[in-house]
Amino acid sequence: MSTEVEIFEKVVMQRRSVFQKDYLPERIEDEVVAKMLVMADRAPTHKRTEPWRFVVFTGQGITKLAKFQSELYKKVATADGSFREDRYLNLLNKPAESSHIISVGMKRDAAHSIPEWEELGAVFCAVENLYLAATAFGLGGYLSTGGITNFAEAKEFFGLGPEDRLCGFFHLGKIKTIETPLSKRKPMEEKVSWVKD
Ligand SMILES: Cc1cc2nc3c(=O)[nH]c(=O)nc-3n(C[C@H](O)[C@H](O)[C@H](O)COP(=O)(O)O)c2cc1C
Repeated sequence: MSTEVEIFEKVVMQRRSVFQKDYLPERIEDEVVAKMLVMADRAPTHKRTEPWRFVVFTGQGITKLAKFQSELYKKVATADGSFREDRYLNLLNKPAESSHIISVGMKRDAAHSIPEWEELGAVFCAVENLYLAATAFGLGGYLSTGGITNFAEAKEFFGLGPEDRLCGFFHLGKIKTIETPLSKRKPMEEKVSWVKD
């Protein structure tokens, strides 16, 4: 095997979701995050619509995000009777545990030339590139699709229109060592079949 393949395999096999409990309080250099986003931008895209949209929050930006999402949750959840104080406090306080939080959006092209599911597929390819880049840089990261991800009222804050989709939030932090083991996978035979003859 060539060295390139060995390096790639190592990064892919070590990729994992690393959560806030393993993050150090130090901030990642913005230049590193910018490089990760250039790698995300290399994702495949049908008809080259490049539907991924990112907003990077760090420093005071994280405070702004925390205020926005907790207040939006309070408004929406109070109106429909589902409000929970613990969820509100989580949305307000948890963001500060990440160095950077990247909102991940899917922008529909004006002509809707591609079915939505394909555009979402392209966006999640970009997310995988973020995961791989985080691994290669020795950083912790994971995608969250909870909180206000599915709130239609949230879209505008992230530069998205009514036809677009907010797809989640990619959290990032510096880590000392990753203490959690690699997540398990079910046997390949359940997921792959070969046709040869
Ligand atoms: C589409 C998608 C949505 C996810 N949403 C969440 C989430 O809301 N909260 C969370 O803790 N992890 C979320 N994750 C991360 C998964 O929990 C994680 O990928 C899974 O546990 C497997 O672990 P691994 O990434 O280390 O292999 C999401 C991952 C994907 C691909």
